[in-house]
Amino acid sequence: MTNTEKNVQTTQICKNATDHAISGAYARGSILSGGGGCPSLNTPQAWYDMVNAYQQAALGTRLGIPIIYGIDAVHGNNNVAGATIFPQNIGMGATNHPALEQQVCAATALEMNATGIRWDFGPVVAVPQDIRWGRTYEGYSENTDLVSKIGAACVRGLQGSSLSADNTSAATAKHFIGDGGTAFGTSTASGPTGPYLLDQGVDQMDEATLLKLFLPPYQAAVTNGVRIVMTSYSSTTAGKVHGDKHLITDILKGQLVFTGFVISDWGGIDQVVPGSCSAPVAQSIHAGIDMVMVPTDYVRFITTMKSLVQAGTIKQDRIDDAVTRILGVKFEMGLFEKPMPAAGKESEVGSASDRAIARQAVAESAVLLKTSPNVLPIAASGKKVLLAGQGADDIGIQSGGWTITWQGSAGQITSGTTLQGALNAKLGDNLTYDRNAAFPAGTKADIGIVVVAERPYAEGVGDSSTLALPNEDVALLAKMRPLVNKLVVVVISGRPMVLGDVASADAVVEAWLPGTEATGLADVLLGDKPFLGTTP
Ligand code: BGC
Ligand code: BGC
Repeated sequence: MTNTEKNVQTTQICKNATDHAISGAYARGSILSGGGGCPSLNTPQAWYDMVNAYQQAALGTRLGIPIIYGIDAVHGNNNVAGATIFPQNIGMGATNHPALEQQVCAATALEMNATGIRWDFGPVVAVPQDIRWGRTYEGYSENTDLVSKIGAACVRGLQGSSLSADNTSAATAKHFIGDGGTAFGTSTASGPTGPYLLDQGVDQMDEATLLKLFLPPYQAAVTNGVRIVMTSYSSTTAGKVHGDKHLITDILKGQLVFTGFVISDWGGIDQVVPGSCSAPVAQSIHAGIDMVMVPTDYVRFITTMKSLVQAGTIKQDRIDDAVTRILGVKFEMGLFEKPMPAAGKESEVGSASDRAIARQAVAESAVLLKTSPNVLPIAASGKKVLLAGQGADDIGIQSGGWTITWQGSAGQITSGTTLQGALNAKLGDNLTYDRNAAFPAGTKADIGIVVVAERPYAEGVGDSSTLALPNEDVALLAKMRPLVNKLVVVVISGRPMVLGDVASADAVVEAWLPGTEATGLADVLLGDKPFLGTTP
């Protein structure tokens, strides 16, 4: 391999940046779809064709080294319209059921393969310590042991018993290390809606505390064969993790004997030495990052790498190690023998069997926070039920961020079953729904269900100093109360919220961000299945 060919292997670019012909000097080792990085037509077939086109182009370069295509399939293959959307990780933590998470992640890998993709930027094994963090829902739990257990189960589910087997996906434990431990107010990053508060901030704790809280999930992932680890945007008191050789090389690769490769986060190395072009590349590669999620200006990145290697600033053996690790994973995945998964499997996306797994996960994730006697479960026989709330009949709200787009959004963004749809199927005429609780005068019912819901967000956009539920939702309680004998509130949220008046309801259920299969929620509300979830 020429030096350029080696540098190319260390380069990951965003598919939206691939205006350059995929050949020669500017070929690449990997392509990713960021959140919402969909083909112009968002169908499983179009995804497969897109990935296949990149793959065929890579195979046509001098060495014919296949690319590895990566995506954030963090609650199902969630960018793909029609995919099964599983509960966000906080809900899977609430199930405390590793075998179920393993099934969820195996189903995710299956739906990824149907779209031609075999590398997942998941599981997130953060251990969120401050629920004001916008990524709290991406973590399984605030408890390190629970995260280790469920995260390892996801790795097993994605990677199967052999990475070269059909329908497997390489897994990524992220974000190494300490991404759930940043102190409020330490972030200097910002996003589309303004400055972040915690996300990408600083872990203000000594190393012993950092490692005790955050290292075990990586140890568990490595023991279970995880092939990729992604570094965290956040900093420790020693600086940005992306540039920290002690953490990446000594601890992750040395102490944990991690033999796969390390990828940086989206534009993450640029933050190591802000404002400089070559210094962050030199420092982060030296620190032990093997592949760089550039993600757009790959010409500059490859040129910079080349001159740094020529000048000896980046040592040849460091590049050789990085490329060996990357190619090693590509070999293990069988990409050289079979660069693309089988075509024609589009019908596996959003299949009935995967939706059944999701429904079970939803049922097991719901937490009964409170109930007065004889309120929940609702005995279905003949009870009149009123339902209201912006999140009661909205696939987008119940799925949260990282769904079809990076931030997610309210509305009919993909196919699935809302709580309204699920309850209607079970209760028929005994259910009356109005989003705004504008029921006709004189309406009387046994039970009123009000859904109060956080609106979708992702990453630092969701950092919150108040954890307040939307007023427009909470106001519905007062409208509903006079119409019903018992009032039930279902909270849809990515984290525990300040309940305020909501806590006065006769029963309160925390449903987290259940995804597309809210039938699982109806199952527990109506007593077809028991409440098993516990606050994670
Ligand atoms: C996130 C990662 C994600 C990457 C690619 C980053 O902003 O922090 O979790 O894998 O984008 O979408
Ligand atoms: C991408 C995400 C990425 C984020 C980073 C967005 O434009 O879609 O995948 O995580 O940028 O800031």
